[in-house]
Amino acid sequence: SADKQQNHPAMGCPVTGTAADGCPVSHQAAEFDPFGSDYQLDPAEALRWSRDQAPVFYSPKLDYWVISRYDDIKAAFRDNITFSPAIALEKITPVSQEAQDVLRGYDYAMNRTLVNEDEPQHTERRRVLMEHFTPENLEGHKPMVRRLTREALDRIIDQGEADLVDEMLWEIPLTVALHFLGVPEEDMDKLREYSIAHTVNTWGRPSKDEQIKVAHAVGNFWQYAGKVLEKMRATPDGPGWMRYAIRQQASYPEVVTDSYLHSMMMAIIVAAHETTAHASANMFRRLLEQRELWEEVCRKPRLIPNAVEECLRHTGSVVAWRRITTRPVTVGDVQLPEGARLLMVTASGNHDERHFENPDELDLYRDNAVEHLTFGYGSHQCMGKNIARMEMRIFLEEFTRRLPHMELVPDQQFTYLPNTSFRGPDHLRVRWDPVNNPERRSDQAREPRMDFDIGAPSVKDLARTVRLADKRVLAKDIVGLSLEDPHGRPLPNWTPGAHVELLLDEMGRHYSLCGDPAHPERLELAVLREPASRGGSIYVHDRLQVGDEIGIRGPKNHFRLDERAEEYVLIAGGIGVTPIITMADRLKRLGKPYTLHYAGRSRRTMAFLDRLAAEHGERLHLYPSDEGVRLRIDAAIGEPSEGRQIYACGPERLLEALELATDGWPAGMLHVEHFGAAGALLDPGKEEAFDVVLEDSGLTVRVAPDQTLLEALRAAGIDVASDCEEGLCGTCEVTVTSGEDIDHRDRVLSREERGEGNRMMACCSRARGKISLAL
Ligand code: HEM
Ligand code: FES
Repeated sequence: SADKQQNHPAMGCPVTGTAADGCPVSHQAAEFDPFGSDYQLDPAEALRWSRDQAPVFYSPKLDYWVISRYDDIKAAFRDNITFSPAIALEKITPVSQEAQDVLRGYDYAMNRTLVNEDEPQHTERRRVLMEHFTPENLEGHKPMVRRLTREALDRIIDQGEADLVDEMLWEIPLTVALHFLGVPEEDMDKLREYSIAHTVNTWGRPSKDEQIKVAHAVGNFWQYAGKVLEKMRATPDGPGWMRYAIRQQASYPEVVTDSYLHSMMMAIIVAAHETTAHASANMFRRLLEQRELWEEVCRKPRLIPNAVEECLRHTGSVVAWRRITTRPVTVGDVQLPEGARLLMVTASGNHDERHFENPDELDLYRDNAVEHLTFGYGSHQCMGKNIARMEMRIFLEEFTRRLPHMELVPDQQFTYLPNTSFRGPDHLRVRWDPVNNPERRSDQAREPRMDFDIGAPSVKDLARTVRLADKRVLAKDIVGLSLEDPHGRPLPNWTPGAHVELLLDEMGRHYSLCGDPAHPERLELAVLREPASRGGSIYVHDRLQVGDEIGIRGPKNHFRLDERAEEYVLIAGGIGVTPIITMADRLKRLGKPYTLHYAGRSRRTMAFLDRLAAEHGERLHLYPSDEGVRLRIDAAIGEPSEGRQIYACGPERLLEALELATDGWPAGMLHVEHFGAAGALLDPGKEEAFDVVLEDSGLTVRVAPDQTLLEALRAAGIDVASDCEEGLCGTCEVTVTSGEDIDHRDRVLSREERGEGNRMMACCSRARGKISLAL
């Protein structure tokens, strides 16, 4: 380990003796430089080798262990006892004696505040102070953010060119934070001035002279914050989070102390400011760099919440976060000693293909973008995330509407303040021709098109527009639809068993795909007219016309074909043939043995008979009931056999009969897809409340009789992705860690999976008694 020793003569190798030469630090690990340009420009790319080869490694240059995979980082965030946040704000470069002396001159006494605090104090305080961050409360701050953004835009709109960072992205998040805290207007300018100077020194490597300058600014900041706080104490019933905290102090004096309030005031300004400013600049840069994405957002403002989230994932403003181990612990397969300092590179986790499909692509339609690690995770997860989201959404809404023709000034070099953890360009220069400003043609362009709910984005808004290219009758009461991208681009790939959701007049309806996955330029569906249903199929039959544009979500697949089985039995009832036919095609292509059983009322009502006969010949067994031919389930499925899998889609009666017939068979043999939603709507008169312990967040949440678990989690600020919200799609699955009596109401989990008792669908399932979740 000579190499390392040269860099850090005072530091012993923390893992000596575990490799033949006494030093297990690889060449790449030894070379890893968090202040080098690779990591500064693109931390995720700079750590690709690590994600693939050494997901946990010791960096001698930094004297930290670096963690780069999504699962490992999330696991560490989850356990804030073993992985203490105590070092989260520690200076990467130790403060010089002179700077310390300067600070002492200002009676500087910054204490730990939330983000770097250990338990039990942290959760105690977080609970007492959390209420101000609830969605209802944040609603009230929206008009202020809107106003600030509009004023900034008014200032630049006729200029034709601007540096977005200098002219607004830097300023507005700070002003928003000051409003949120309730700082009186007359004190804002001073606090703004001091706090900006402060941000240099935690994460970077300031020179000696800079340190002295910064120390004076921080000292002034500290004193001024104290004065403003005293002033607020005189009007404790006034607005803002600080006064709320002052009021809480009266009830919980030993939890919310004086020194705590003073530290908090400064800490929040810092936490809220740079993070949001940088994230916003990154977002504009990324979207403008890929012009077609920017244009897509201009056309479809509904995409804005997810665009913001995806930008936070793809190019977040926090790229790494720190923890220190409080006991020896294994991460990945590396043994860490007690006291190991960890740099968890969240930007790398966000680009981990083990968690995100095509992670390097910025995908506005990504439906799990919300799982990014940019806000951290678990009991310390960013309390201000919904404020940041609100700001970024409003920025994007205003700019895509008022300056859709804005572009990046070409060939600009982006520069960054070198540091391990925060990332955002110092400047972002854009330009446009004011002659083309939409508001010069119509005043309407000045008015917001859209308001967004507080909280995580809803996957409901992620619809693509497609055009109906063909519509034809396939059988009595069944029409076939062909859908294309209106611009001729390929549609997403899909696999047999997948479905899409058609958005018809605000109604979402799920239909299995029945075309050929090898031709992604067209999606094929078959829709049965169902007079008794909620109207979706009637709309398709009677109103939808070739050339119409409609929204679709998906494809998604919760009915996947496991291609490793030895033989297959496929069973379709009525319109349930749609996913089954694609499975049969696939099995034929794979050369696997299969039989295909298809039951219906009469041949006239059974779609695809010609195609099935031509493609699947003697493997096909038809059961039109008006001809007296009945499907005998026992005969179709045969005896239990390890290598056989059964896939079935059809009416409830058929699927129930199959469940019964395979009772006691080896687990995992039967796969079914239901047509419709499982449960009725919530009937509060019949439901019981239950308590849920959230292990990662340290909260207990009560789910009221008139609330779903999903709603209760969201009200508590926990982001859980959801999609169908009726128990069909599996998106809202949560992990159950304890609690026996789960009342499963979804259509996703199989009998075996329910039996295991370790997961449930938050949108519909409930519990009889207390349960704990890994959230
Ligand atoms: C904590 C990121 C905006 C207030 C955190 C943490 C991260 C983070 C990574 C640590 C999470 C953990 O340890 O698990 C961000 C980003 C933001 C942002 C990327 C903007 C895009 C804000 C805003 C506020 C805020 C606007 C306040 C108005 C806080 C607080 C904590 C925190 C109070 C400490 C929570 C605790 O430890 O319990 N943030 N933040 N943040 N953030 Fe943010
Ligand atoms: Fe689809 Fe819950 S959101 S199952």
